Amino acid sequence: MNVLLLTGAPPSARIRAFLEPRVDRLAETSGPLSLEALRRDGVDLMVCHGYPHIIGPEVTRGYPGRIVNLHNTFLPWGRGMMGNVWSCFEDAPQGVSLHFIDEGVDSGALIARRLVDLSLDETLETSWKILMDALEDLFIEHWEAIAGGSCHATPQDALDELGSCHDRRRSETLLDLFPQRWSTPAAEVARLGEEYRRDPAAFARTRGADPYEGAGHTPFFPALLRERACPAQGPVTVREATGDDLLLNWLWINDPVTRRMFKQNGYVGWSGHCRWFAQMLANPDATLCIGLQNGKPIGNVRFNRCQGEAYEISINLAPNCRYKGVGAEMLARSIAHMRDTRAVRMLYAMAKKTNKASIRVFEKCGLPVVQRPAFHSGMARFEPDVEVYMEAVYP
Ligand SMILES: CC(C)(COP(=O)(O)OP(=O)(O)OC[C@H]1O[C@@H](n2cnc3c(N)ncnc32)[C@H](O)[C@@H]1OP(=O)(O)O)[C@@H](O)C(=O)NCCC(=O)NCCS
Repeated sequence: MNVLLLTGAPPSARIRAFLEPRVDRLAETSGPLSLEALRRDGVDLMVCHGYPHIIGPEVTRGYPGRIVNLHNTFLPWGRGMMGNVWSCFEDAPQGVSLHFIDEGVDSGALIARRLVDLSLDETLETSWKILMDALEDLFIEHWEAIAGGSCHATPQDALDELGSCHDRRRSETLLDLFPQRWSTPAAEVARLGEEYRRDPAAFARTRGADPYEGAGHTPFFPALLRERACPAQGPVTVREATGDDLLLNWLWINDPVTRRMFKQNGYVGWSGHCRWFAQMLANPDATLCIGLQNGKPIGNVRFNRCQGEAYEISINLAPNCRYKGVGAEMLARSIAHMRDTRAVRMLYAMAKKTNKASIRVFEKCGLPVVQRPAFHSGMARFEPDVEVYMEAVYP
């Protein structure tokens, strides 16, 4: 196989050293490409790693599924320029991805992606290096499948996630906010991101710049789900959550309707969600049930043991599955699972008075609205002006 490595400065020594003994011919360029020259040279596959140019449509069309890009974000988040800086600023998932290059901006089919846990103690530069190492590892692990043509790439529009994309001008505005440039601590970038989300107008006034200027509706809220039809009807089953449910639960919790129905209604950042999810899985007093229909996750039901054998419950269905009569079945199956596997003497929940569907679903599962009993003092905060309290007691 004849491989062309598309690199920038500094050239990719590790990838080069890895590929050299594995291919028939390896060339490297950081210059512009022409389809004619590529064909003349008999290039079979291109590997793009830090290449500074945009590859034109003539070349991408001429090499469909044969230009692999190493991208230092967890796609579809952080497409475009300085994605790793944006992912930190927006508190979005951080990681690395391999994808085929198409005509769009980092939008081609995904070969593989991996989350990378980055400490806020890193600087932008040191975190970039960690991402680069992880990216090279990912490429090396997938090389055989890429070279053998056996990798099953997933089109990005088949993902539930919408992700984010940032152009050069906004990325430069963002980086200009940090006088230390690439030596800026990640914690500082994250802090400014929070400041922006709290009050974009005040941020623009005090910092003298708005990195999203002219970008339209709330682009700094990157956990948005793609609109999809509900999965085909069928019986609902439940299982307990695993680490693989991390991303989907983050998307569900950030759905705008869910945010309005829960007590804290702001954006739930990726870093906070990861901490919460890890604690949830490790906590013997907490259980997160995932509802499934036709094997596909449709929502969650959370149980937190508060006192003795009393558990607080909350429910959140995936936005595309709501108002179709599935919520009660998912809740009933989750309650049955808890009662089969734990000692449960009491369940209680709170819902906003305006959340009629939620109140009805709890009622159908044996938790009617009742007066909140006095012994609940010290348990979860209850706001009688806006909420109702629902409870089931088992013998
Ligand atoms: C609340 C939630 C779990 C309800 O599940 P669901 O499957 O969407 O609800 P359903 O379609 O089964 O509707 C439940 C009931 O409420 C009724 N209902 C739905 N919307 C209603 C409304 N606006 N007013 C009055 N009743 C309503 C339905 O008719 C149904 O009653 P029925 O079974 O007697 O006909 C789901 O919508 C959800 O997750 N929402 C977002 C998160 C949330 O609000 N969680 C609860 C926080 S406490």
